[in-house]
Amino acid sequence: MRSAEEVRQEVCAVLAAYPPPAAGQLRFLITAGPTYEDLDAVRYLGNRSTGRMGFAVAEAALKAGHQVLLVVGPTPVPPPEEAVTVKVRSAQEMAAAVLAALAWSQVLVMSAAVADYRPEKYTDGKIHKTKDELVIRCVRTPDILASVNRQKNKPVIIGFSLEPEVDQEMAEAKRATKGMDIIAANTTASFGESFSDAVVLEDGREVFTPGNTKEELARYLVARAEELAKKR
Ligand code: CTP
Repeated sequence: MRSAEEVRQEVCAVLAAYPPPAAGQLRFLITAGPTYEDLDAVRYLGNRSTGRMGFAVAEAALKAGHQVLLVVGPTPVPPPEEAVTVKVRSAQEMAAAVLAALAWSQVLVMSAAVADYRPEKYTDGKIHKTKDELVIRCVRTPDILASVNRQKNKPVIIGFSLEPEVDQEMAEAKRATKGMDIIAANTTASFGESFSDAVVLEDGREVFTPGNTKEELARYLVARAEELAKKR
């Protein structure tokens, strides 16, 4: 497990290599994939996110001529080759990476499925089966968007939500509470797939209709972020 300072230093070194943005060029900070919360040297709590949605947004932003930094959790799916990538493991590492790159970015796309809980205690080595029951006590991980919202100059924020079925009211409440400009409300059916059934909401209005590929949704989100960034 890396410390927040180690992650911050890696991100700062990576960002130092970017040229100043050209006219009309935006800087996209994109998170993708799951986070893994370690229990011992061999086990973790994770989720089934593959990162494909965030990778599609990164590709669309690069194709539109923007600069991209991709912060990626552990996934077997390779990120787009042309995207600069910082690899992280846990929610704490992802939070450190996002906060280190926040002032650099004009658009933040939080497509990562960040674990909400981690085991309270990490055990060095392996936990052996000495009892009939094992109770794992978990504590909350940092809420990355909540930390972003405490900063002064916020980028345009695009977030995601995941439910078995889209509940527009719940998604809109989440968008407003978490300080997002746009929320793409996904269902679990699109996990790891090339299609997206996300409903995109902005100020309570449905602005993008589901039934498209992740690439189409990504192109829409990049185009809309460009419009919103212009107004800032
Ligand atoms: N997110 C975050 N930090 C976390 C958890 C989630 O920044 N610790 C971000 C996600 O990347 C996503 C948005 O917040 O963009 C989703 O919010 P969340 O409340 O986690 O949504 P769900 O997982 O859909 O909801 P819940 O946890 O309430 O089931």
